Amino acid sequence: MKKTKFAIIGNPISHSLSPIMHNYWFKKYKINAEYELLEIDKSEIQNVINKIKNKEIKGINVTLPYKNFIIPFLTKTINDANETHSVNTVMLDDNNNLIGENTDVFGFQAAYLKSIPNQANKKKVLILGAGGVAPSIILALLKSNISDISLSNRTFEKSLFLKKKFKNLNVVKWNDCSKDINKFDIVINATSLGLNSNDKFTNDFSNFKKTLVYIDTIYNPAETKMIKYFKSNKIKTFNGLNMFIYQGQKAFYLWNKINPEVDDELLELLESKLN
Ligand code: ATR
Repeated sequence: MKKTKFAIIGNPISHSLSPIMHNYWFKKYKINAEYELLEIDKSEIQNVINKIKNKEIKGINVTLPYKNFIIPFLTKTINDANETHSVNTVMLDDNNNLIGENTDVFGFQAAYLKSIPNQANKKKVLILGAGGVAPSIILALLKSNISDISLSNRTFEKSLFLKKKFKNLNVVKWNDCSKDINKFDIVINATSLGLNSNDKFTNDFSNFKKTLVYIDTIYNPAETKMIKYFKSNKIKTFNGLNMFIYQGQKAFYLWNKINPEVDDELLELLESKLN
């Protein structure tokens, strides 16, 4: 029997571990399906959309730089995708409508917010970056009743754009991050800085609180320079692997109506593929 097809679209995409994770779950739950990488150009998106409509592909994940770009191709966005204008999961509903959902918000909540020490709602959070993943992180924090959220981005105007969407966001000038960092309990790197293991922030972050929790949304490499720096200073750190896994878990559920287990074998498999 022909395998049901799933894919992730993005550009560049070769670093993505989504095929490994979904194919692991297909095997585990004996689903006759395969998940592949589609590194595509903007001009090829319509073609992929047509394949979903005619059921050649059952569902796709969407990653950079298309999380927002894909929206006009869809019938509608729902739930978190509606609130963030960021779509990472696409599927057809029973009436053949193309639905865009966002599972990054759930991914972030499921991955970290349970690990943050008590009274998380009183914590002050600083998000670095205003790119594709930032609105999902803001919404995940708000849904977890964390409302003291500041954001700083190298290009200031992009922070203001997010403030239009999330009115209570505090915007911090990029050059003020160094002196202000000691005000924050949680710092989250939502920039792409760190994807190359030599990437380094030019800001000086040494003025941090001793109880700081540092979260990097990057999972490959497993340890960015920032994670190494904070770890060596005895700060609790997380990389983006759990967020990645839990966004995938929810996407898998939306497509297959099975909530796949995050077991040790999967964790080992994914960790073995990281740099
Ligand atoms: P996009 O900005 O196209 O949505 P992204 O990968 O989602 O792409 O976002 C990249 C993020 O990393 C942005 O916040 C970007 O800051 P700018 O808006 O100023 O470009 C940030 N970023 C990338 N390289 C950076 C660097 N060297 N220093 C600081 N921030 C950086």
